[in-house]
Amino acid sequence: MSTSRASGGDEITAITVVGLGYVGVVVAASLAAAGRRVIGVDRRADVVASLDAGRAPIPEPDLQARIDRARALGTLRATTSLAEAVAASGASLVCVGTPLGDDGKLDESDLIAACEAVASAVPASREHVIVIRSTVSPGTYGRVAARLDAARVSLALNPEFLREGSAVRDLEQPELVVYATEHEAAARFVEALYREQRERLHRTDPATAELLKLVNNAWHALKVGFANEVARVAAPAGVDPFAVMALLCKDTKLNASAAYLRPGLPFGGACLTKDVASLSAHAARHGVEAPLIGAILSSNRAHLDHLVEAVLAHEPRQTAIIGVGFKPGAADVRDSAPVKLVRELLDRGVHVTVADSAVLDARVPPLGLEALRQALGDPRAQAAPSVAHAVRGADVVVVGHPSRADRDALVALRPRVPILDAGGELTRTLSETERALLSPVVLINH
Ligand SMILES: NC(=O)c1ccc[n+]([C@@H]2O[C@H](COP(=O)([O-])OP(=O)(O)OC[C@H]3O[C@@H](n4cnc5c(N)ncnc54)[C@H](O)[C@@H]3O)[C@@H](O)[C@H]2O)c1
Repeated sequence: MSTSRASGGDEITAITVVGLGYVGVVVAASLAAAGRRVIGVDRRADVVASLDAGRAPIPEPDLQARIDRARALGTLRATTSLAEAVAASGASLVCVGTPLGDDGKLDESDLIAACEAVASAVPASREHVIVIRSTVSPGTYGRVAARLDAARVSLALNPEFLREGSAVRDLEQPELVVYATEHEAAARFVEALYREQRERLHRTDPATAELLKLVNNAWHALKVGFANEVARVAAPAGVDPFAVMALLCKDTKLNASAAYLRPGLPFGGACLTKDVASLSAHAARHGVEAPLIGAILSSNRAHLDHLVEAVLAHEPRQTAIIGVGFKPGAADVRDSAPVKLVRELLDRGVHVTVADSAVLDARVPPLGLEALRQALGDPRAQAAPSVAHAVRGADVVVVGHPSRADRDALVALRPRVPILDAGGELTRTLSETERALLSPVVLINH
């Protein structure tokens, strides 16, 4: 957040922070220490009294220093009266709790109540920005917006990624700030709030912002669960799990990096399936529970099923599949998802033709046409000599992992049938002109 006052037309006199739990109190103190006038609101009188008296209600590094600075500046006060705070401010950051309910969903009743209470406290002649900082489930932005008077209240989402224990530092030096809104007044306010972090600030749509926060935490939880499973499977082998994970993290190209984190086709190839299966078998042999590792192959299978269903939804009689290597740029068809797709479609009575110039050009086993024939394992699957041959007569074209030459050939052919971009590889490389010339390109992971 901005460490100095916003300026010019984006200045909003005071900011209300609703909910003075972990997030709210850190947000309020940090903004106030940076010179913004902040009014903290909570229904818990003890928390309000503590903050108003200048005492940090929670132990958190640097928090007391921020509160002390804010008091010296005279920029921070707290109250239990939401109406009074809203009347004295131009924007509210809503940081109330959204705990897990008995039904397994987030209980957003406090959040909705708080947003409604803010909206109804806005004086008749004034406008107000509400920024939801709490973690919410997909669809909440729309549900809250529908209850507000859009003419006077602009709604934005700005999920918080701070961690307890380093909350002040995380808030003031964020790696990533995301917001979403359908109101330009709210956009201007958020942009001004993060003026000093603008290179880390990303605007997106509300559903993406909502889901991102949940996916973000699921990713962290998955990493913890995975590292712990590694410890359990390492023990019977007499291996030090700390050494394994420390070495794994030394590879910042493939391991601790963005590699493999883009959605696409199921994985395959000569190694991943077999080695995951082997690790899982090792765990089973020693009676070690390793449900995450055990679920990797079934997750991969579920993705293939999803792909098959997405193709079948187009009710094809004849499908052309372009690019059947197991990954982008690979002429190797071992354990390849596009090849599995061919078999699944054949089993459901769809006629399939396959084109892959990289596979056809490869001569050395286990590559080449013979390898493809063997992998397909079914004489009904036709390996066509070119993309043009494969596409002829097809009522659906599926793009797998195409070589550049095959991708260009497909675009030049401009088949007048739906093109299903299974892994997103075509969509990523299409120019605006190419996109306009092609029939609808359907991204399967969408
Ligand atoms: N704690 C974290 O580390 C963390 C990090 C990132 C995001 N979040 C998310 O931020 C949100 C807040 O988390 P938290 O840990 O600060 O919650 P919390 O439960 O500690 O505090 C929420 C506060 O809101 C107050 N409150 C609730 N309804 C109110 C209302 N209508 N008016 C006034 N006060 C009201 C409560 O009294 C409480 O003090 C949650 O959605 C959480 O998932 C938490």
